[in-house]
Amino acid sequence: MKNIIDLVNKKPWVGWLLFLVTAFSIFVVGMLASNIFERRMEAQMVYKPINPISDHETRNEKWGLNFPRQFERYRATRESDTQTYAGGSKKIDELERDPRLVILWAGYGFSKAYYQGRGHYNAIDDMRNIYRTNHEKSPGTCWTCKSPDVPRVMEEIGVAEFYASKWADLGHEIVNPIGCYDCHDTKTMALKITRPALIEAYERQGKNIEDATHQEMRSLVCAQCHVEYYFKGKGKYLTFPWDKGTSVEAMEEYYDEAEFKDWTHAISRAPMLKAQHPGYEVWKTGTHAARGVSCADCHMPYRTEGGAKFTDHKIQSPLNNISNSCLVCHRESEETLRSSVENKQKKIKTLRIQAEENIVRAHFEAKAAWDAGATEEEMTNILKLIRHAQWRWDFASASHGGSFHSSLETARILATSIQKAQDARLELVKVLAKHGVHDTVEIPDISTKAKAQAVIGLDMEKIKAHKDKFLKDIAPEWDKKAAERHDQWDAQSAE
Ligand code: HEC
Ligand code: HEC
Ligand code: HEC
Ligand code: HEC
Repeated sequence: MKNIIDLVNKKPWVGWLLFLVTAFSIFVVGMLASNIFERRMEAQMVYKPINPISDHETRNEKWGLNFPRQFERYRATRESDTQTYAGGSKKIDELERDPRLVILWAGYGFSKAYYQGRGHYNAIDDMRNIYRTNHEKSPGTCWTCKSPDVPRVMEEIGVAEFYASKWADLGHEIVNPIGCYDCHDTKTMALKITRPALIEAYERQGKNIEDATHQEMRSLVCAQCHVEYYFKGKGKYLTFPWDKGTSVEAMEEYYDEAEFKDWTHAISRAPMLKAQHPGYEVWKTGTHAARGVSCADCHMPYRTEGGAKFTDHKIQSPLNNISNSCLVCHRESEETLRSSVENKQKKIKTLRIQAEENIVRAHFEAKAAWDAGATEEEMTNILKLIRHAQWRWDFASASHGGSFHSSLETARILATSIQKAQDARLELVKVLAKHGVHDTVEIPDISTKAKAQAVIGLDMEKIKAHKDKFLKDIAPEWDKKAAERHDQWDAQSAE
């Protein structure tokens, strides 16, 4: 201290310099503090609903008035212009890309049309447009994972009643695409499970979903839809087949015990299962789930705009956004990470195609066996092997992202699929020989979607005409009724 006082006494300008430096530092610190405070306020503003959200508000744009950043990013899921090696948002015709699928799903709606999944904003349009929905036949249950209007209508008419309805009877009610009300509480904005099937599956396992941690909720909101499920019984009650566990074998056993089938295969007559999209179940078996990394961590990373940090609601392939999605935890370059994902996907694809080749052949060989006079007794075990082989192939393929989420489990499942299909074919060789067929069974030309659809006898012209009529005459009526309901809500809240 003495040194400084001496110094200032000798050179007074040093004192002034010290004074000015100190004053300036205090000023800078003050500015910083006020800036941080302002940003905090800004961040808090994001959470504060300016326009209270009513209990039945399913319109995303109304929530958007309070949360413009989340809404703008959410709305960007309508964009349909990205394609990675195995994913993306483009409307890609999967049947054209791989016509074997038409054969695998012969006798079932998926053989008519199947596209790569797009962003959530398109869910209603895609569901109305696809040839798989039929305004005279489809059940109401089909709507369940498409719209925030689903939990709203379930509350109004009852859950079982919702499932037992016809698709067309609910058409004017279910119009807003997957959005805020599907995942958030209207009052607190906390994450919320709105789909009864997930809550019920937990209950049957003796668990309460309300005990889920915050980090678990960041995956469970997705598990409302990105899971395996089926329509149970006459009432088409949407049910997760998780009672014995969530592995491919546990669910297979569940379905076998219930003697459930989605359809009878049009070529082999096997009692088939259609896997939905067990994305959540497969993710649970992977490295990231084991380390507590949630769906939202990769598919809804944080984003910063104008000083506010918020959750990116443009849910998409994380490969479109590696810097925010992966580099928060990983130190590799973007290119290294991308190629590590693609490498896994490419290797697993070779297994997937191998499984498809085998199962397609098994279906045709089974038909040849029936044609040659095989008996029910001779065929029962073979058809069961085909059922299991295809279920496992479908489980692995339809678990979108599974090749990355859990590569080893996906490869394991496909290996068992190939093995089951091979077992079926070995048995078929014996049955065919017994009935005098010794030559290789010929596979018809299924090199394009159109050719494969002709092989299974689909009248695509008729299907198209039926859909065109619906889109021209009925869909606009639904929209008109929905607009009237929305106007009524606005009138009520203005009162
Ligand atoms: C560690 C990061 C990570 C986690 C955690 C994660 N994903 Fe993914 N997901 C990916 C990557 C990478 C892909 C592959 C994208 C591609 O091929 O373009 C992907 C693909 C997908 C796809 C297909 C996307 C497309 O464009 O075809 C869906 C759907 C998906 N994930 C859903 C989920 C769900 C649901 C969860 C949680 C149960 C989850 N993901 C957890 C990284 C992750
Ligand atoms: C598929 C589920 C899902 C949908 C749909 C969804 N959100 Fe979110 N939202 C989340 C998740 C997950 C978080 C992160 C929550 C956490 O970790 O606390 C989140 C966080 C938020 C937050 C808290 C602030 C932030 O950014 O982290 C707000 C506000 C929000 N969402 C608004 C909306 C709005 C508005 C919509 C509709 C336009 C919407 N959300 C649709 C899942 C969803
Ligand atoms: C209410 C049901 C529902 C919920 C909840 C839901 N999804 Fe989806 N998701 C869908 C449907 C349906 C599609 C396909 C939409 C289409 O193709 O029109 C889809 C598509 C996707 C895609 C493909 C989009 C693209 O551009 O590649 C990804 C990725 C995805 N969802 C991830 C998630 C994640 C992660 C969560 C949880 C944060 C989640 N989803 C919650 C039903 C849902
Ligand atoms: C929240 C943190 C976190 C995020 C986000 C994350 N990872 Fe990871 N990742 C981990 C952890 C932890 C491990 C396990 C490391 C270990 O076991 O040594 C891991 C392992 C991996 C592995 C090696 C194991 C495997 O499954 O093959 C790859 C590859 C990988 N991550 C890629 C990605 C990609 C691509 C993304 C973005 C789409 C991503 N990760 C996002 C934390 C994360």
